Parts: sequence; C-alpha cells; structure tokens
Amino acid sequence: MTNHEPSTTRRQMHIPDADRIRDDIVGYLRQHEEKDLLRLLTCGSVDDGKSTLIGRLLYDTRMIYEDQLAAVIKDSLVHGTTGTDFDPALLTDGLKAEREQGITIDVAYRYFSTSKRKFIIADTPGHEQYTRNMATGASNCNLAVVLIDARNGVVTQTKRHSFIVSLLGIRHVLVAINKMDLLDWSQDVYETIRRDYNDFVARLGFGDIHFIPISALHGDNIVTPSPNLPWYRGPTLLHHLENVNIVTDRNLIDLRFPVQYVIRPNLDFRGFAGTVASGVLRVGDEVMALPSKQLSRVKSIVTQDGTLDGAFPPMAVTVTLADEIELSRGSLLVHPNNVPRVDSNVEAMLVWMDETPAREGTSFLVKHATNVIPGALAEIRYRMDVNSMRRMPAAEPGQPAALRLNEIGRVHLTLHRPLAFDPYTRNRQMGAFILIDRLTNATVAAGMIVDRAIGRGRRAGKDEPVSQNLSQETSAVSLDQRQALLRQRGGTVWLTGLSGSGKSTIARELEQRLFAEGHLCYVLDGDNVRHGLNRDLGFSAADRTENIRRLGEVARLFNEAGVIVITAFISPYRQDRARARDIVGAGRFFEVFVDAPLEVCETRDPKGLYRKARAGQIPEFTGISAPYEAPEEPSLIVDTTALSPGDAAARIIECIAPLFAE
Ligand code: ADX
Repeated sequence: MTNHEPSTTRRQMHIPDADRIRDDIVGYLRQHEEKDLLRLLTCGSVDDGKSTLIGRLLYDTRMIYEDQLAAVIKDSLVHGTTGTDFDPALLTDGLKAEREQGITIDVAYRYFSTSKRKFIIADTPGHEQYTRNMATGASNCNLAVVLIDARNGVVTQTKRHSFIVSLLGIRHVLVAINKMDLLDWSQDVYETIRRDYNDFVARLGFGDIHFIPISALHGDNIVTPSPNLPWYRGPTLLHHLENVNIVTDRNLIDLRFPVQYVIRPNLDFRGFAGTVASGVLRVGDEVMALPSKQLSRVKSIVTQDGTLDGAFPPMAVTVTLADEIELSRGSLLVHPNNVPRVDSNVEAMLVWMDETPAREGTSFLVKHATNVIPGALAEIRYRMDVNSMRRMPAAEPGQPAALRLNEIGRVHLTLHRPLAFDPYTRNRQMGAFILIDRLTNATVAAGMIVDRAIGRGRRAGKDEPVSQNLSQETSAVSLDQRQALLRQRGGTVWLTGLSGSGKSTIARELEQRLFAEGHLCYVLDGDNVRHGLNRDLGFSAADRTENIRRLGEVARLFNEAGVIVITAFISPYRQDRARARDIVGAGRFFEVFVDAPLEVCETRDPKGLYRKARAGQIPEFTGISAPYEAPEEPSLIVDTTALSPGDAAARIIECIAPLFAE
C-alpha cells in the first residue's frame, strides 16, 4: 500500500448514511450490493467546468474524505476561482494528482454512490489524445455527460466528442449546459444551445438526449433543483443519473457465451467457464458451438454460489453440456436459431492509438471476446474528419493510405480464420475488438465492427443478405436472349454532378434520343426515386450511401432485363459510385461527370435550393455544407457551361457505343 491510499484511521468518511450504517450494517451492505451500476463518461474540457462538475458530484454525494475536504477548503481560499469557501475543481484536480503519482493514467475512474445507484465516472482528459482516451474510457459506458459552456454554445469540440460517443455506441446523452450563472440564467441561451445541439446530433442516432441547465460551480441543478432556474422543470443532473433507464440497453436477445476456459478437474466434469456477453442462457436450452457448429443441450449452469436455472450478461458462470462436443477457449455458444456472422472478412471503424501510423497490409493480432486471431489490415477505405463528421480520403496527396494517432477510419480486415461476431451497434461485446502489434505486443487500435464484410472472393461491393437461408433462382430466359430481342445490351449511364449541373436535363435529352433510335431506356432521377423507393432516406453521408446502393441494385435489375438505364443522382461520394459500378458490373457502367462549377450551379439554382442552403435552411447541402467528390477517371466529362444538353447527349451516345455493337 502506498502512502496515498486512504487510511481509515487517518480519515473520516463524510457519509450521509452514517446512522444507518451504525444501526444496520448488514442491511446497508446488502442494499448497496444490489444497487445497479451506471458507468458514465464526462466529455468537455476543464474550461467547460468538467473538474468542477465531477468535484461537485463527489462533494454533494459526500464521497470524499474529511481531510481532503479541509485541504480543499483551505486551498480554495488561496487558489480557488470562486473567491468563496469552496472550489469543487480543486477537489477533482487534487484527487487526480494523488492518483497519478507514479503511474501515467489516461483515464481516471471515479466512484460515487447514492442510495439508488452506484456510479463510475470515466474522466478522460480533453487534450490531444482525446480520441484514444475516450475510446478507452468509454468502451463500456452507459451514458455520456456532454458539458457545454453556455457562453460558447455548441463548439467543434462538442461535435467531436458527441461523434466519438455515438461511434462508441453510447445511447444516452446528458447535455449539461454549464455556467448558466454567468448568463443571468437565461432561458433563451439555453433554448438556443438546445436547438443547435439537436440540429447537429440528428444524424448521430442517439436514443436518448436530455438537456439540463446547471452551474457546477454553485451547485445549481446538480443535486437540488435551482431556485435560479424556475423556468426549467426537468430533473436535476443527479436525479437524471439515478433514474435513467439502462436495463433495456442490454442485449438479452442474442445469446453469445464466449468460452474463456475449459474446466476439467476430473473425468466426470467438463465445464466451460466464461461471461455471458449477451442474451439469456437457460438450463435445457439447445445450443450450438461455433466454429464447430456441433449441437448440444445445457445440462447445468454453475457458479461459486451454487447452480442456476439461467444466466444473463454480465454474469460469469460455468456451463456443462449434455454431450461431448468440440469446444475450447475462444469458442462461442449460441442458440442454433440465432447465430452470429462467421467470416474471415471484417468491416470496422478503427480508432488508431499508436504513434506509428496504420498502413495497409500490416499484420496484427485481433483480440475479440475470448479469441485472438492473426489478421491483416487489408484496406483503409476512408478516414473520418471527427470535427465535421465528413469522410476524408484514406491517403494524403502523394502518400500511401494511413491512419495516424487518434484518427478514425473505416477499414477492411482479413483474418487467418473465421471469426464469429455481431455488428457493434447490435452487440457491443461481440462487435468490439482491439488490434495488437505482433512485435511490441502493444494495443494499437480499438475497433467497432460495422455492417457486413465485403469478401475478396465474392462479387466485390455486394454485401451479404441478412438471412442465410437464401438461394438464387435462375431464369429460363437468358440475358443474351433478352438483349437479342431488344437489339442492344443492357448498361448504365451514371450521371454524377452537383445539384443544378444539368444531370436531369441531359438525362431526359439522352432518353429521348436513344428512344428515337429504337433503344429501350429508362431514367432514374434523384428527386423521383426519393418520393418512392427511397423516401425513407435523407442526405446524411450514410443515407446517401444507401440511396446509391439501392439505385445501383435497381440499375442492375434493369440492365439484367436488357434495358439501358440513365441515372441522375448527385452521388457525391467516389466510393459510393465505385460500389454502384461493382454492383452493376464494370463492363456496362459508364460514369459521366456532368461538370459545372459551383458558382454556375448556384446562379442557375433551378429549384431555389442553393439560396435556402446558403440561408442555413437546408443542412448538408452538396457543395455548400456537404462535400462533392469529383470523379477521378470518369468515362466522359461533359462541361455544361460549354455544351448544350443536345451536344452533351450526343457525346454520351458516342461513349456508350459498345452497347449497340452487334
Ligand atoms: S444523392 O446525394 O443521394 O445522390 P440525390 O441525387 O438522390 O442525392 O438527390 C438530390 C436532390 O435532392 C437534389 O437535386 C435536390 O433537389 C434535393 N435535395 C434536397 N436536400 C438536399 C441536400 N441536402 N443536398 C443535395 N440535394 C438535396
């Protein structure tokens, strides 16, 4: 024990339940044991009042020692910013200094409890290493407190933190709008910040966002409702933390029991020890072992305290089965009617944590649940700009693709053998992994599995269907027969360009001309498709990706029927267009860049949308507040400042001549 450990003889706890403890210690301890635990993360900088808030929570819930408090009160008179008796920030920082002696910790965990709940706060420093620290501190948090300094409102850092919080799958966000005292407790200020934050997070998909106006320094709305904020009728910060419902966040649907150890004390007993990652396991359940796919039944569930009928996360148990099947460390027990994906290709968001940048082709150990599998970083698809939440190319100009310290990117991993996993959004336990450097043994990245992998051997760009019980029917009429009937080949003219560049006009012109020449063709237009098939999609990067994916599939179906498709979608992302090309088939896909400078499109403004976008009325408008990535190697560029729609159509017809060759 170091001298920094609190010693009970030296220190007196300042405990509100002192009487109860004296009179009924057993009852008190039992109640304490049964309380549930909320893990929370605080995001914000010291300037936003983070230390003050944490200090305030610890102080007001009496989770500090008398002598620490005495020291802080003394220090407050000397260094405090309050000019009064007590500065909670000194308390937090003082504890931090005490904790950090001798070791460097990136994340400090603080503990406090009330009669309702136990809490662990992961306090991550807000400086340059923020991403890594947050990824470490937040990995199993239920809730994030996003602190906003009311004087500054929603700033870049707020957005960055919120993005990482969403990436880490934290569903509950508590936005604490701090320093309300400095703004005369203004309801207008509060409402404006609330609106700004809501506008911005709409695309992040949080299930639950709460706003509370506070003054951490003075304790307003922290533990007791503030008389200074009579217009605010919601709960205090602590009340919210005590009552927010986290039980339903647990995945109790998909049974995943990763085997940690096989226990075989004698020939009569063979048990599999591990922690239930998700779902519910019951005695008598039929289970399947992965990767062997062998079936058996749960014979018993054993813990140190005896046997159980069932187990759920995060219980650590030992399971025995009715049959001898192949099961070892790293294996997984699941229900046979609810199996995870098993694949050696994994798509993930990766938070890079090492000084040496990630490069494509490097091999690693992938640690996932109880498994460690060698694998390689096959591809860095793109990087995320965490400040704007936009995608950036994986490579800087003239450089190979790389992820640097604290950068986040979408990657494709290939593993030496198949891994059983779930997407992170569905199952945090089974969707998270870390990458370990094979030489230094250091953890170099934290990953969150997304979506479904794109297998190298499969048709690239095609995801796997959700159901595994599907087959493909073949038609009695072949594509050749259809094409012979129509005297043309099916193909796709993919027009891409800014809104107002002339895509729809050219598409119509081209359609008319082709039809007049006896070719069956059909225009798919952005605005039209968004009224029907894609009416559920907006303009976030993810929605646009899905928009283009579906339209790639539609174009392919038309092409399979022998029809020529002309598409008029902005399709701003290079990668989405590449995927559409993969779906349709490169041989019959013609990417045409309908090129007009933004200024020109903006002057044309056929639908008045640029004007609205400039006025801030349309978020994420391509060219104004969302990116457009021009094609690098299109089949054709038509410059609509120089060519008439008719001329443009004529050029395109020349370009797609292979579709008409006999
Ligand atoms: S795409 O980016 O997903 O390819 P798409 O071509 O389907 O876009 O739809 C673009 C059309 O939607 C534009 O022509 C415009 O009329 C309308 N629109 C509405 N909001 C936006 C926005 N935020 N960005 C771009 N276009 C928008």
